[in-house]
Amino acid sequence: MIKVMSVFGTRPEAIKMAPVIKEIEKTSGMSSIVVVTGQHREMLDQVLDLFDLHADHNLDIMEKNQTLTTITTKILSRLDVVIDQEKPDFVLVHGDTTSTMAASLSAFYHQIPIAHVEAGLRTWDKYSPYPEEMNRQLTDRLSDIYFAPTTLSEENLLKEGIQSSKIAVTGNTVIDAMQYTIDKSYNHDVLSQIPSDHKIILLTMHRRENQGQPMANVFQAVNELTQLRPDVDVIYPVHLSPAVQTLAHDVFDNNSQVHLIDPLNVVDFHNLMSRSYFVMTDSGGVQEEAPSLNKPVLVLRDATERPEGVDAGTLKVIGTDKSVVLSNMLALLTDNVLYQKMAIAKNPYGDGKASQRIVSILQHYSD
Ligand code: UD1
Ligand code: UDP
Repeated sequence: MIKVMSVFGTRPEAIKMAPVIKEIEKTSGMSSIVVVTGQHREMLDQVLDLFDLHADHNLDIMEKNQTLTTITTKILSRLDVVIDQEKPDFVLVHGDTTSTMAASLSAFYHQIPIAHVEAGLRTWDKYSPYPEEMNRQLTDRLSDIYFAPTTLSEENLLKEGIQSSKIAVTGNTVIDAMQYTIDKSYNHDVLSQIPSDHKIILLTMHRRENQGQPMANVFQAVNELTQLRPDVDVIYPVHLSPAVQTLAHDVFDNNSQVHLIDPLNVVDFHNLMSRSYFVMTDSGGVQEEAPSLNKPVLVLRDATERPEGVDAGTLKVIGTDKSVVLSNMLALLTDNVLYQKMAIAKNPYGDGKASQRIVSILQHYSD
C-alpha cells in the first residue's frame, strides 16, 4: 500500500488538491492521509465541506494577523510529530504558500520524498509575489517529483537543472476542480440586487505586497469608475485578512455600486465569475480559471507567474497605479473589439485530467 500524505493549509491549495485526493481515494493500492496546517480556518473549512474532504490531522496554526515566521515555525514543530507517527511514502504539496514551503522542509528533514503539484511557476522576482516566489523556488529545490501544469513551467524547472525524468506536464488541477462547480442555472442573492442590464465586475485582492497604498490606489480607481459608469456594479468577496477587510470597508462602505460580501465558497465564486463581464484580481488561481469561462482578467500585480494566460490573450497585467487601472477598466467597458479578443482566448491549463495523471505517476513511481 502506497501511503500519500497531502499537506495544505489555505483555500486555493484545498481547491486544487481536492480532485487529487479524491483520485487517490479511489485508486487501489494507495491510501490517503490528509493533513491540514490550518493556516486558513473559515476559508479552508468552506472548501473541505464542499468537496467532502476530511482532515486526518489539523495542525490548527491560524492566528489573527499571523506572521510568516509564526506560520513557518508552528508548522515545522507540529508536522514533525505527525510525520513521525504516520511515516508516509510521499508528502504531496501544492503551489507556493508558506504551508507548502514549511511542509516540504519538514518532509526533507524526515527524508520522505516530496511531490510538488503546480511546480515550476516563476516570476524570477524575489519579492513579487511575496513571499510566494521564494516559497515555490525553495519547495522545488527540496522536491523529488515535479507536476508542472504547462510546458512553460516544465522549461523553468529544466533551466534550474531539474532532471527531465523527474518532471511530468499534467495540466492544472484547478480545471479538474471546475468540473465539480459550474452550474448554468446558478443564482446568488447579490445578483438580485443588481439590475439585469448592468455590467458586473468581479474583484478580488488580498496579496501581502498589495496591502496598503497599492490596494488603496485600486480601490480609488474603482470608486471613480462607478461615478463615471452608473451601469456598472462591482462584486468584491473580501478576503478575511484584517488588513484587507479594514481598507475595503473604509473605502467602499458608502458606494452602493460596490457590493462587499463574505468570501464565497468556490461553487459560488466560479458561477459568479461566469456571470461577470470581466474580472480584476491579484489572485493566482483566478488567473487560471477565468480563461475557461471566457472572461477577460485585469491582473492587479506588477508581474505574473502565469504568462500562459497573457500569451493566450485573456490576462493583462496592469499593476496598481490608479489612472492605469481606471483607463484599463474603461477600455474593456467601451472597446468591444478589445473585449472580444480577451474573451475568446483558449484555456492553456489543460483538459481536466491532471489529477488522474498525477496519481498514476505516484502509483508507478517505485516500479
Ligand atoms: C495566504 C498565502 C497566499 C495565498 C492566500 C490565499 C502565504 C504567506 N500566503 O495568504 O499565498 O494566495 O493565502 O488566500 O502562505 N484569516 C482568517 N480566516 C481565514 C483565513 C485568513 O481570519 O480563513 C485571516 C487571519 O487573520 C490571518 C490573515 O487572514 O492571520 C492572513 O492569512 P494568511 O494565510 O497569513 O495570509 P493570506 O493573505 O491569506
Ligand atoms: N475563491 C473562492 N471564493 C472567493 C474568492 C476566490 O472560492 O471568494 C477561489 C477561486 O475560485 C480560486 C481560489 O479561491 O480557486 C483562489 O484563491 P486566492 O485568490 O485566495 O489565492 P491564490 O490563488 O492567489 O493563491
